[in-house]
Amino acid sequence: MSTSAAISGKEIFDLLRDDLLAIEQEFSRDTISNVGAITEIGEYLRAGGGKRIRPALLLLAARLFHYQGNGAVKMGAVMEIIHTATLVHDDIIDEAQTRRGRPAANTQWGNSRCVLAGDWLYMQAFKVAVQERNFRILDVLTELTQQMVEGELLQMEKLGKLISLDEHFDLIYRKTACLFSASMRVGGILGGATLEQETNLGLYGRNLGMAFQIVDDVLDLTASEEVLGKPVASDLREGKVTMAVIHALERCTPSEKTQIETVLRDRAFHGVTHAQILETLTRYGSLDFAHAEAARYADAARQAVCTFPDSETKRALLWAQEFVVAREK
Ligand code: IPE
Ligand code: IPE
Ligand code: MG
Ligand code: MG
Repeated sequence: MSTSAAISGKEIFDLLRDDLLAIEQEFSRDTISNVGAITEIGEYLRAGGGKRIRPALLLLAARLFHYQGNGAVKMGAVMEIIHTATLVHDDIIDEAQTRRGRPAANTQWGNSRCVLAGDWLYMQAFKVAVQERNFRILDVLTELTQQMVEGELLQMEKLGKLISLDEHFDLIYRKTACLFSASMRVGGILGGATLEQETNLGLYGRNLGMAFQIVDDVLDLTASEEVLGKPVASDLREGKVTMAVIHALERCTPSEKTQIETVLRDRAFHGVTHAQILETLTRYGSLDFAHAEAARYADAARQAVCTFPDSETKRALLWAQEFVVAREK
């Protein structure tokens, strides 16, 4: 491959394959407990798959600095375990039935066990992270976990309410972008990044994560459950106002506004269908607007890594930024 050529998704997977496999093994080892329910839930969640985007980002960030140690595999597993813990708790809160095309863990083990398994996973992630003996990493992780929990709580307070774009940006930063940013920073810290480099990696992750969640919210409105592997149109049914909806609400007629507000209040599509709401969002260009915002964040992610010298790893980060906006699941 020539040095300036773009890199494909398959090439990135090939590049990271061995480390990603090692992360799966690390995850399995890390989630074994004397208490059977925890090991079972942990293994069920791991085996459910997922894109593994956060560990992949951590590996790439470490590779930008030619990091050679085993810490990237360990910390990649830590990030995926934290992500898994947030998903278990999120599915309980959202009363989700499916995740990754399978019954959500809460439907199999019940809420009480899953809350506790989620707590255990958080603490296990920290236990493994402590092995790095690196306060900079622990700082990033504690800040991250609090931001994410605060994000879920803030979101709960806003359920069913019309929120501003600024409030929405804050929520999606805490929910998603924060973990992307932390994954990049931890990879950089392992590799010996300077504080300035760590900041730029964090900015890349933050902007990529914002784009990722904006697209996730658009897919929730436009995709099918078969493709997505999780419920669709769920945000409206959960009373969550996302970017395209905020955009439409600022432009639509009073009767269209009432339709949307009714779904948010009833937490169900009673007098109006999902297709009708989608038609309104399309007519006001609201889905296109959200996509354009995602593209704007993806471009900011690209700029955040522009000072790193050209390499296969950097090209992988540039690919990820395009993939996130174009993805269909
Ligand atoms: C799901 O994240 C939660 C969000 C931030 C939208 P992913 O879409 O990365 O989930 P998996 O790990 O690939 O299933
Ligand atoms: C996910 O938020 C963010 C988390 C911190 C788990 P969502 O509720 O939008 O995620 P999905 O759509 O259930 O994956
Ligand atoms: Mg959810
Ligand atoms: Mg969602």
